[in-house]
Amino acid sequence: MALAIICSGGDAPGMNPAIKKFVDYVYKRNSTPWFIHDGLEGMIDGKITQATHSDVAGIIHNGGAIIGSSRSRRFYEKKYRRQAWENLQKHHIEGVVVLGGDGSYKAFDILSREFPLNFVGIPTTIDNDIYGTEYCLGVDTALNVIRNAVDNIRDTASTFKRAFIVETMGRECGYLAAVTAVTSGAELCIIPEMHFNEKAAREHLLTELQQGRRYILAIAAEGAKKTEWLKQWFKNEIQIETRVTVLGHIQRGGNPTVKDRITAFEFILNAVDLLLENKTIQAALGYEKGRFTTRPIHEVTAGRYRIPEHILNDLHFLD
Ligand code: F6P
Repeated sequence: MALAIICSGGDAPGMNPAIKKFVDYVYKRNSTPWFIHDGLEGMIDGKITQATHSDVAGIIHNGGAIIGSSRSRRFYEKKYRRQAWENLQKHHIEGVVVLGGDGSYKAFDILSREFPLNFVGIPTTIDNDIYGTEYCLGVDTALNVIRNAVDNIRDTASTFKRAFIVETMGRECGYLAAVTAVTSGAELCIIPEMHFNEKAAREHLLTELQQGRRYILAIAAEGAKKTEWLKQWFKNEIQIETRVTVLGHIQRGGNPTVKDRITAFEFILNAVDLLLENKTIQAALGYEKGRFTTRPIHEVTAGRYRIPEHILNDLHFLD
């Protein structure tokens, strides 16, 4: 059987180990692996090649994705979706492994309703915002990149009497910010999912500063859109000099951690097995309560991810 792999949307560390395992395992199962290059854009343009073992030699430790990715506007139009599907047919591709997030799942969901297509999605995004999985590939690496940056910022913060705000990625999801705040012992965290209790924060921080606190560390999720506001709030309400660090795309790079490599392998084995063993499948994998799970794609695209309560309960001044 001919199976293809595609990366779609924002890249995440873990894609390369996944691509490598895909090629090795598909051959092991006496099937043929194909690459779809440059995401949905490449699928529309027919950038599809047969993969070899040598293509994936020496990539296991690299962030990014050797087959490229893209965000596609053209895919919103049916004529381009048809073109993309016809390109798969030219190579007799019977199933696709999709490394991507919610937007990529929706794209393949629409495509498979219009044209016969089997696919299995592997949740791959540093945002950790996909329904039906506790964990998305790339998150552990991103959290460690952020932790490293925050640890460095602490060094300079503790030398000056200043507030530091670190802005994390995550789109509309505050997961990266919330986990970072808990594991870095930040005083403040602002996420889109919760309301910031200004009064409680102000009283607490002013008391602590009076008692000798030297610096304040705050983590702001980009999705809350409050980073600049928080800077002004520190200036006006807490009267403390403040610096902002927007970590940006640094968070998407870096060598995948051991957790992301192992998780990539497990996701791939499950995805390939499902494609080889099912006549019809449009599904997404997940990792829930210590096991790998499979859900129909429409269930995943219709659901909404929630940050676990035990993480939210550990954050200060949010209600
Ligand atoms: O979805 C991953 C992500 O890195 C988000 O956290 C961020 O908002 C977005 O992608 C950035 O997109 P781009 O790389 O297109 O600027």
